Amino acid sequence: MISPSVSALVDGEVYVPGLPADYLVDTYGIPADQISKLGSAENPHGTSPLARRAVEQVLDRMSIYPEWTSRQLREVIARRYGVTPESVVCGSGETEVIALVIRAYAGPGEPVLMHAPCFPLYRIFATMENRKPVYVPMGKDFNLEMDHYLEALASRPKIAFLTSPHNPSGQLVSEADVRRVCEAAHENTLVVLDEAYIHYSETEGSVHLLRN
Ligand SMILES: Cc1ncc(COP(=O)(O)O)c(C=O)c1O
Repeated sequence: MISPSVSALVDGEVYVPGLPADYLVDTYGIPADQISKLGSAENPHGTSPLARRAVEQVLDRMSIYPEWTSRQLREVIARRYGVTPESVVCGSGETEVIALVIRAYAGPGEPVLMHAPCFPLYRIFATMENRKPVYVPMGKDFNLEMDHYLEALASRPKIAFLTSPHNPSGQLVSEADVRRVCEAAHENTLVVLDEAYIHYSETEGSVHLLRN
């Protein structure tokens, strides 16, 4: 029997991640070298030698907690993007940051705007935290219907998620549209531009708008 507190954790929609490459090899007999695993923003070029070296350097310190605000990493990211370290938040993947953003910026019952379909965790976390997902349906050709999205902003959601490249369609949101959304959003609406897949797009994305 599942206790009520455990059932609260397992009820509702469960996130279904992409299949691991090993599973495809074992189940479908697809050769490992013919699989490009990109479904969860993996690096198609394999582990970066720089990341490997950085991990090797801390192997002897794995028994202790790291600096808990990821200060060094935030400083490096801040230098790379020309912002202050105080404006950078690190998480255990962007997934954790999405959960924190929803909890911090939307109160119980308050609306959180997103496309339908979109990265399911916006909806799952909003629902789990008793916030209210509000959807802008994509068009029949799977277009992002940005005019409808702008209209939906008029209802003043607490958070407006925008994904570029969009998951699952892969479409980029143009910088002009990102600007239109930021300009149309009420001052109490937090616009979240999720660029988890921007490195596949061969563009710099819109992070530079933060400096404007
Ligand atoms: C649009 C989008 N945002 C965020 C994430 C989560 O990223 P992370 O793996 O860093 O938690 C994903 C992962 O698939 C995604 O598709």
